[in-house]
Amino acid sequence: MLVVSCSHGKHIGNLIAKKLKKRHSFLIVDRFPDDELRVRFGSSPKNEIIALVQSFYKNISDCIIEAILAARTAKELGAKKIILISPYFPYMRQDKRFHKGEAVSQAIIADLFAKYFDSICIIDPHLHRKMRLEQLFRIKAKKLTANLLIAEYIRKHIGNPVIVGPDEESYKWARNVAEILRVESRILKKKRYSSYHVEVKLNKKIDLKGKNVVIVDDIISTGHTILETAKQLRKLGAGKIYCICVHGIFVNGALEKLKKAGIKVVSTNTIPNKVERIDVSILFKQLLESSIK
Ligand code: R5P
Repeated sequence: MLVVSCSHGKHIGNLIAKKLKKRHSFLIVDRFPDDELRVRFGSSPKNEIIALVQSFYKNISDCIIEAILAARTAKELGAKKIILISPYFPYMRQDKRFHKGEAVSQAIIADLFAKYFDSICIIDPHLHRKMRLEQLFRIKAKKLTANLLIAEYIRKHIGNPVIVGPDEESYKWARNVAEILRVESRILKKKRYSSYHVEVKLNKKIDLKGKNVVIVDDIISTGHTILETAKQLRKLGAGKIYCICVHGIFVNGALEKLKKAGIKVVSTNTIPNKVERIDVSILFKQLLESSIK
């Protein structure tokens, strides 16, 4: 097996290869004068199982093109099998036509990747209306979760926690983490009016006396979901508020806004950022080890 890091997989590809004791190589990526991407393998993929590592954040469209170009090239150059290792996989939230005429991007993007990869492995994909990756991808698809690692982080660093999920979809993370820790949890109700306008309600009282509140969610993008949640929790007397997410996208100064609101934010390293404290490379190591056998 050869682990190949694409431009947005470098922060974790190396860690995965080291843990697996497999060779690691970087995909060489640059641009033609007109801005088109040029990708090149530094090590030959011939007769190798290629674990191509790419996380899809910031210039998401470029990240997609890069991974597709690399996968197709690896096949042409004689790779045995190409596995996409995706710490963060994009377009998963657009899982229905919310407005007339909109693309259902989740299905389209899944179809595109299924064309070029033999299998795919994603950490905590945002699955809602379609609950399983198998319903989306026509190739072997494996969902991994950082829940256990998040629970371990809380156990080590935050005393007397109560776990809060900011919306109905967050139960897969918040309730699960609370169950691992055997502590109390609450899932809130959220209404989204636009990308930057959400309302969050608590439908059942919760006793926060002497507790450290830990909001757990899969994604923080604009940060508004967490800001609103924290506002409601403060009204109930919450003191210290922590927030742990799997995928810290943090657009438009989200992290600064959260800090200003007195929320201590921590994320995993599916997307590199200033508050990544939980390393998920072990999850890929375990999966790839079992698929090699
Ligand atoms: C959506 O349901 C997700 O689980 C997150 O709650 C959401 O994506 C967070 O977005 P934002 O940070 O922009 O409020």
